[in-house]
Amino acid sequence: MEYKWSVLFTILAFILVLVNCIEYSSLNEPYNIGGSLLKPCPLCNTNRKPGPGSPGTQSCCDSSQGVKLVVQGAKRGALDPNKPGSCCHGAVRDYLKTDQFENMFSKRNSLEVEAHAKGFWDYQSFITASAHYQPYGFGTTYMNRTFFGTKEVAAFLAHVATKTSCENKVATNMEKLERGLCYNKEKNSNPNYCDERYKKSYPCAPGVAYYGRGALPIYWNYNYGEAGKDLKVDLLNHPEYIEQNSTLAFQVAIWRWMMPIKKHQPSAHDVFIGYWTPTKNDTLAKRVSGFGATMNVLYGDLVCGKGDNEFMNNIISHYLYYLDLMDVGREAVGPHDVLSCAKQVVFNPSYSSSP
Ligand SMILES: *[C@@H]1O[C@H](CO)[C@@H](O)[C@H](O)[C@H]1NC(C)=O
Ligand SMILES: *[C@@H]1O[C@H](CO)[C@@H](O)[C@H](O)[C@H]1NC(C)=O
Ligand SMILES: *[C@@H]1O[C@H](CO)[C@@H](O)[C@H](O)[C@H]1NC(C)=O
Repeated sequence: MEYKWSVLFTILAFILVLVNCIEYSSLNEPYNIGGSLLKPCPLCNTNRKPGPGSPGTQSCCDSSQGVKLVVQGAKRGALDPNKPGSCCHGAVRDYLKTDQFENMFSKRNSLEVEAHAKGFWDYQSFITASAHYQPYGFGTTYMNRTFFGTKEVAAFLAHVATKTSCENKVATNMEKLERGLCYNKEKNSNPNYCDERYKKSYPCAPGVAYYGRGALPIYWNYNYGEAGKDLKVDLLNHPEYIEQNSTLAFQVAIWRWMMPIKKHQPSAHDVFIGYWTPTKNDTLAKRVSGFGATMNVLYGDLVCGKGDNEFMNNIISHYLYYLDLMDVGREAVGPHDVLSCAKQVVFNPSYSSSP
């Protein structure tokens, strides 16, 4: 009986969140600093096409050459000759086209959904933002000669869509899938998200607030500081730049996806690609590489480890829908791909992890 009540209560809570259209702000967990800046992927060639005259590419990416995968996997320092390699090649614009992007976010400028960022988001901004992170493997990674780029972009944009969706007037499931990129900042901009513990490295500027901004919102002075350092933009003094520049708004989102933001956690990119070796504890906690684990990294116990829930299912639905729209097809999700995080113990409980 008690169990039933808690289920009912959970369902009600989710409905409330959706109805009030505040999910953009309700997942504003504090992040800890990741520390190091990203390192480029070894053997990455995001400019040249594979083929004669591009040896760096052939040795890793071009399976048709029958070249044994060169082992230069490690992205963060150590080159481990026993680890299967990853490499990257190509560009997001090679496989994501304008019309696909338009279909994915078809209602973003629509009156009917009361879009809050009308005219802000566009295809070119995403392509330009992606280009900055392609050399680090975003949308360009091959792992064991399998290309993960298209799936990764579908997964990333699925997160973006659910975090920026206005679902207040949604009638059908299909409508839900078309409401992404409705916001470019958190609805509630009152909290200033200034963590004084970082006042030395990331001093909060007077009169500004570090509330959620971007396609996958970032929060807190230290995240603005870190992302700004990586993008060479003074976000600490000018967080508002993100609201004014859609390329930047996508860039901070990709930064959040690519960086291991909390200590002792991999990045969403790494768990999606499988560029992450689960420890015994991870295995016991049912944490495995794949789409499910990206939700664990990004949202922790707000979404994961609590059984089937609407928020989680909504993110998964977006992912599958985007795979279809990107001509990969949802059937590309194999029987061993773990889409859900319903049974995963979270990496870190929110609010409890210390810097
Ligand atoms: C927007 O941000 C991008 C990426 O940081 C930058 O290259 C561009 O110059 C900015 N545009 C404007 C108008 O400030
Ligand atoms: C790549 O291959 C290695 C060895 O065959 C395997 O251990 C690893 O799990 C594979 N990685 C992915 C992401 O498939
Ligand atoms: C694994 O989990 C146990 C029990 O929760 C913990 O004491 C231990 O420190 C963990 N090991 C690692 C490497 O995280």
